[in-house]
Amino acid sequence: MTPRLTVVGTGYLGATHAACMAELGYDVIGFDVDEAKIAALQAGKVPFYEPELPELLARHVAAGRLSFTTDIQEIAEAGDIHFLCVGTPQRPDGYAADLRYLFDAVDNLAPLLRRPCLVVGKSTVPAGTAARLAERLTASAPAGTAVELAWNPEFLREGFAVADTLHPDRIVVGVRSSRAEQALRSVYAPLISAGVPFLVADFATAELVKVAANSFLATKISFINAMAEICEATGADVVRLAEALALDPRIGGRFLQAGLGFGGGCLPKDIRAFIAWAEELGAGDAVAFLRDVDAINLRRRHRMVELAKEQCDGAFDGKRVGVLGAAFKPNSDDIRDSPALEVADTIRRAGAAVTVYDPEAMPNAAVRYPELSYADSAFAACEGADVVLHLTEWREFRDLDPVALGAVVRRRRIVDGRNALDPERWRAAGWTYRALGRP
Ligand code: UDX
Repeated sequence: MTPRLTVVGTGYLGATHAACMAELGYDVIGFDVDEAKIAALQAGKVPFYEPELPELLARHVAAGRLSFTTDIQEIAEAGDIHFLCVGTPQRPDGYAADLRYLFDAVDNLAPLLRRPCLVVGKSTVPAGTAARLAERLTASAPAGTAVELAWNPEFLREGFAVADTLHPDRIVVGVRSSRAEQALRSVYAPLISAGVPFLVADFATAELVKVAANSFLATKISFINAMAEICEATGADVVRLAEALALDPRIGGRFLQAGLGFGGGCLPKDIRAFIAWAEELGAGDAVAFLRDVDAINLRRRHRMVELAKEQCDGAFDGKRVGVLGAAFKPNSDDIRDSPALEVADTIRRAGAAVTVYDPEAMPNAAVRYPELSYADSAFAACEGADVVLHLTEWREFRDLDPVALGAVVRRRRIVDGRNALDPERWRAAGWTYRALGRP
């Protein structure tokens, strides 16, 4: 019998997972406590920007395969497999992950689980969380031990969420029984038969895979950004350096793009939560290097402000700065811990008139940074600018015509915070081109 699936928490991860599971052929119900979010999703609308997701979601809602509710009783009765996709943000009082929403979700769902089912955690958590949740589940579910827990971390990237979910590099599951393993094997059978590796582990290992992967990626980015600092001290070129390193297949070229560094809702908070959790375990020394990874990353933002100041002849007062980019990365409207906006706002506070343009993220940016000015095109943002800062590498910015843009600015000076523009093209159009980690 085909299992019926539910997804608890319909944010970024949950909405994507629900739509993709419907795409695999399952009947899926998404649950959230946020009524506005549920109303939007039930109307077939995605309340954030993610390529491909709106079409997928609308199609499956219209077909009746995918629905959304705020009624937890409904999903408890309907679901054979419940996926937990609630957020685990950084705690306001420190580095640790805030697990409140996850525990609330389990505490609300468990007392309603009256028949055998599998609860599958997908949120990013410190190892040990699944074991605690499993205990709570069996203690308060009327069906007792017939309710099982599994852990199945999610590795999707924003901007590629649908493709990453339907064509993942691997599926990792942490289980305590072969029944749970079989249930997940069967749910993911369409992906497994397409060749996606299926790895079975214990709870703690499955939880750890996710944080370890994100720590590795963050470390790789900070490594090349540390090399950028060295390049700045010696006059070397980090882009050329990265190209040469990338040709060694043991190193590889991905995540070796030097620039303003990482932001977003995952890498920064995950490495900080990892540090906090390892310290709690008495294993803090093992990941002490992640403090450097974080520090190198944040130093890039200061360096960017310095370079912008240099291009403003040493003072921001009375200068106009055009900022291209607000999202933490292209193809996303997510501004959580966005390096672009932090740089823009620092420069505004230092006295410049800063105007920002981003293809998708301006509504979010305007809520979080209301003091910045916003324009509705790259050209409008750069009008009369003393310096242009390229801070998020949208395709639209790479395709900009430097001759045409040169006609609207006050001075042709650009700092490329993402090493994504072609310096020769900009210099040929009369621009002073500066970048992070390049002479
Ligand atoms: C990341 C992981 O990639 C994903 O597997 C996990 O599930 C969630 O966290 P995401 O936050 O969507 O995904 O973005 P990602 O594409 O990984 O980029 C993260 C940040 O690193 C962005 O700010 C990006 O600009 C920056 N980055 C990435 C670099 O500065 N240089 C690079 O070479 C690559």
